[in-house]
Amino acid sequence: MKSQEIRTQFLDFFKEKKHKVVPSAPMVIKDDPTLMFTNAGMNQFKEFFLGNTKATELRITDSQKCLRVSGKHNDLEEVGKDTYHHTMFEMLGNWSFGDYFKKEAIGWAWELLTKVYKIDKDSLYVSVFEGSDDADKLQMDQEAYNLWKAIVPEDRIIMGNKKDNFWEMGDQGPCGPCSEIHVDIRPKEEKAKVPGATLVNKDHPLVVEIWNLVFMEYNRKANGTLESLPAKHVDTGLGFERLCMVLQGVESNYDTDLFTPLIKEIAAITGSTYGVSDKTSPLTDVAFRVVADHVRAIAFSIADGQLPSNTGAGYVIRRILRRAVRYGYSYLGMNKPFIHRLVRVLTDVMGKAFPELKEQRQLIENVIKEEEQSFLKTLENGLVLLNTTIKDTEGKVVDGKKAFELYDTYGFPIDLTALILDEKGYRLDETGFEKAMQEQKERSRSASEVSKEDWTVLVPDVTPEFVGYDLLETDVKLVKYRKIISKKEGKQYQLVLDRTPFYPEGGGQVGDKGYLEVPNGDVVYILDTKKENNEIVHFTKNLPKHLEETLHASVDEKQRQRTASNHTATHLLHQALREILGPHVEQKGSAVHSKYLRFDFSHFAKLTDEELKEVENFVNARIDGRLPLEEDRSVSMEDALKAGAMALFGEKYGDTVRTIRFGRSIELCGGTHVQNTSDIWHFKIVSEGAIAAGIRRIEAITGDLAKDFYFENNSKLQEINGLLNHTKDPANAVRALQEENTKLRKQLEQLLRDKAKNLKGTLLNELTEINGVQFLAKKVDLDAAGIKDLSFAMGQERENLFLLFGAEQQGKAILTCYISKALAQERGLHAGTIVRELGSHIKGGGGGQPFFATAGGKHPAGIPEALNEAKTYLDT
Ligand code: ALA
Repeated sequence: MKSQEIRTQFLDFFKEKKHKVVPSAPMVIKDDPTLMFTNAGMNQFKEFFLGNTKATELRITDSQKCLRVSGKHNDLEEVGKDTYHHTMFEMLGNWSFGDYFKKEAIGWAWELLTKVYKIDKDSLYVSVFEGSDDADKLQMDQEAYNLWKAIVPEDRIIMGNKKDNFWEMGDQGPCGPCSEIHVDIRPKEEKAKVPGATLVNKDHPLVVEIWNLVFMEYNRKANGTLESLPAKHVDTGLGFERLCMVLQGVESNYDTDLFTPLIKEIAAITGSTYGVSDKTSPLTDVAFRVVADHVRAIAFSIADGQLPSNTGAGYVIRRILRRAVRYGYSYLGMNKPFIHRLVRVLTDVMGKAFPELKEQRQLIENVIKEEEQSFLKTLENGLVLLNTTIKDTEGKVVDGKKAFELYDTYGFPIDLTALILDEKGYRLDETGFEKAMQEQKERSRSASEVSKEDWTVLVPDVTPEFVGYDLLETDVKLVKYRKIISKKEGKQYQLVLDRTPFYPEGGGQVGDKGYLEVPNGDVVYILDTKKENNEIVHFTKNLPKHLEETLHASVDEKQRQRTASNHTATHLLHQALREILGPHVEQKGSAVHSKYLRFDFSHFAKLTDEELKEVENFVNARIDGRLPLEEDRSVSMEDALKAGAMALFGEKYGDTVRTIRFGRSIELCGGTHVQNTSDIWHFKIVSEGAIAAGIRRIEAITGDLAKDFYFENNSKLQEINGLLNHTKDPANAVRALQEENTKLRKQLEQLLRDKAKNLKGTLLNELTEINGVQFLAKKVDLDAAGIKDLSFAMGQERENLFLLFGAEQQGKAILTCYISKALAQERGLHAGTIVRELGSHIKGGGGGQPFFATAGGKHPAGIPEALNEAKTYLDT
């Protein structure tokens, strides 16, 4: 059965059981500070489990793109070494939100595996939570045990501990006991020898977990305790790649049709062969798997809008890519970019289920290629540095701190360092490396650590309301608060209000600032507003004195107005770019501040001055056109897309969306906007440039800041005009100055040449004879080019010449040595060696040919000593 069919059968099975099929949520998560990437199918439903949001459908099914490379579920370093772990994988799942529970979840899972997929019952094992006697004091899951007992023989039920059978999303969040289903695909003879039950959860490559049925009952709180959830839910995750392995009768995920085309292409490109690793190249197969796995993770992340970068999620992606490059470099002999060439094959395999790959293929290829190129350069530079380190090493153990520097500053991978050292007969001081690494971690941890107390709830069961689209001030009540402490901000409070006019940071737009007035006249300033999960959190330095009283909330109007102008201008800019440059332009990021806006988009060439002008004119024409805001706050995603709205990444299933329209610009957007484009006053681009392969960035300003910009430019122009004696045409005056400058420079060069010529006559008279050689060592007032001309001119006139000139130019020293060719040969003299040796007097170095060479140095005071020593080369 093809993977495509396997996926469809799963979804169809649950569709029949009255589940709604929804698309995968994005793999990159934008608005949850506790999670960077989707690591399980249930992430997008977290709020349903916690009871913060009511589910509109009680049964859902999907295939979710997951990435387990950071936080609690992190498989990165294992990937490639075995045949069944991945960074990015698909998790097929079915969910019940307070609807069915264990009986149906277990019964259906069994039915699907054994009746639909027809997996041999005797190869399946199930596990049940055995309970825990730690602080959580959890009971054994007797209910699940009984349900399984009715289906499978008891010797196939394995009792599991908390690590394996109590699933938690992260350090906080929904959790509960789980039952896993494992499959044993070993050959019959082996099964006869060793019972499968003893191999469950023992990292055996052919006895693997395929499905996890989680019975969500608890919420793990920030203080580590468990609280019961308001309802009981089901959350399951079936590993798609492993299921394909089982159903396609192969022994490795990498031998399924999801991976074989990639493996084949890697072989074709690299000339290496998969599946024949032996003692001489034990890591070739690992490298194949690493590359085949990682290209998926990277391509999907880029398609989701996450480009590799130096921080946060972008940095994780960069590290995954670098791991792939490194394996390719070390074990597949690839010192040229090649991973980007796999994107075509990946798109063939997965583009049907995930059209985003098809749509963005070219961008994905470009970004990967550029990353590969730059990291390969790092690797090469790192090799040079490592060689220097080895040279400076006394003994055979290379300092761990130095290796750490190489790793930390140049991104040079430590296992590569260890490998190279090993090849050269050296060893890495691993303890020193670990220590340096630990110290670094401590430093960055304490810089970013935020400790949060649990919420103190004042008014329970409130669904806070955002009123900021209509109101900038309103009466509010404090619903809950907590204290947080971070190194950067110190002590702060987070407040949740029953209703709020403060816009929380999101969609690129900054959070509102403002204040809360307390009836007794005290003011509490709101320093920032953010979204955490589905809540709007206000950051303050202190708490209001009387927590229960009504407060008056006011948004900083000026900041909001400027931000709104920039946000609307961003939409108009987006429209302008698509109309002027073409529909390939896609938004890749944006930042809307009160002082400026920034817009990143896909486009493959620098914008010309004419294009920039045209874009500005386009936006300003719409500002002049006084287009009113047309807003629809609650429209289904489908209808919005039908109306032609531009959708970005980040929308999830069940979202009703808001559309913002100004004339023909329609976008899905949650941000705040001006009522009429004329409020923007004016739009001015201040910079345009590349930020990655195929991604450009425009920064622009609007409103009173655009005015300031013109005022400032005008006063600069006034100043220049003043310097130009208030001419009518300053550009022409500058042009005339430039021409005159060129003419004068030419004259000066001629004068210097004449001076050198005259000097030649004088110097020829100063030559003295030493052992048959015409010798002169002298300091002159010429630049390097002048000295060269002079030396060769003198050489034309005399034979047997040995010249050493010293000069001082802009605080630096130059030494130049000229030796007649015949003389150099006859006496075995080498000007290059001479300047290098004499260079020590001027604290510098240099070199060149036997008859002419130059050295530069930073110590002009040493010139006389160097000149003095010159004649020693002529001693016989
Ligand atoms: N959320 C469960 C898991 O990821 C199904 O294993």
